[in-house]
Amino acid sequence: MAETSNPINGKTILITGAGSGIGRATAIALAGRGATVICAGRTEASLRDVAAACGGKAAVVTLDVTDPVSVSSLVDRLPAALRVIDVLINNAGHDAGGRQRFDQGRIEDWASIIDANVAGMMRVCHAILPGMVARGEGQVVNIGSVAAFRSYPGGSAYNTSKAAVHTFTEGLRLDYRDSDIRITEVMPGLTRTNFAATRFGGDSGKGAAYYNDAPMALEAEDIARGIVYALDQPPHCTVAQIVITPTREP
Ligand SMILES: NC(=O)c1ccc[n+]([C@@H]2O[C@H](COP(=O)([O-])OP(=O)(O)OC[C@H]3O[C@@H](n4cnc5c(N)ncnc54)[C@H](OP(=O)(O)O)[C@@H]3O)[C@@H](O)[C@H]2O)c1
Repeated sequence: MAETSNPINGKTILITGAGSGIGRATAIALAGRGATVICAGRTEASLRDVAAACGGKAAVVTLDVTDPVSVSSLVDRLPAALRVIDVLINNAGHDAGGRQRFDQGRIEDWASIIDANVAGMMRVCHAILPGMVARGEGQVVNIGSVAAFRSYPGGSAYNTSKAAVHTFTEGLRLDYRDSDIRITEVMPGLTRTNFAATRFGGDSGKGAAYYNDAPMALEAEDIARGIVYALDQPPHCTVAQIVITPTREP
């Protein structure tokens, strides 16, 4: 009975990009619901901070989703008790160098956006899904964006990356349609995180102004609630897509 009322309780959940923003809020929310959260990302100090905020129900693993060895060694680097991943949340992503006309941006930045947001997500799925396939169950939540279907000037690479996340996620759901593996895409709109500062080369003032200039911005906890909703369903119910936007938009 307890299982049905709280499907998140007791699950082992790996979150990429857990050191800040949406990943951090999601880790804390899921730990609060009784999950053991594995916080993955490149900055160990931030991950440790999130794990502490999760109240002891969390582990930390360094992970660069753009590094094939970092990803292929991921499961082996986890404590033995945490190698069965019930839920994978692919959240790591960025738009560093973005919001510029295509020819004026650096090709290294455009390629890095695609590598992290698309190839990185695929690498992590490829490392974790075989365990789910062997067990015949599991759940993958990919963090996409409304940028997948709302292109904007200066967003050529980021829009492309999130459109690819959408298509990839649809493809995954079809690949596992004859199993109990559930595939979810969460598409946030404007959300106040480190995302904008990272986009502007780490300029936190410019990042803050980006959100303050908008009519309204979501908080990371708003997206975490959507993710919790997707994980809160009984096994026969797949939340395929969730789009979350600020109530007031430009
Ligand atoms: N904020 C928004 O308005 C918004 C809207 C729609 C969708 N999203 C999506 O939401 C997701 C989370 O972003 P956020 O808004 O929470 O921004 P954030 O605070 O900047 O978080 C992004 C996280 O990704 C991690 N990351 C970046 N590159 C990585 C890599 N190569 N390997 C592993 N981790 C990496 C970063 O940590 P390290 O640098 O320490 O590794 C960071 O913790 C992203 O996929 C983003 O595209 C955001």
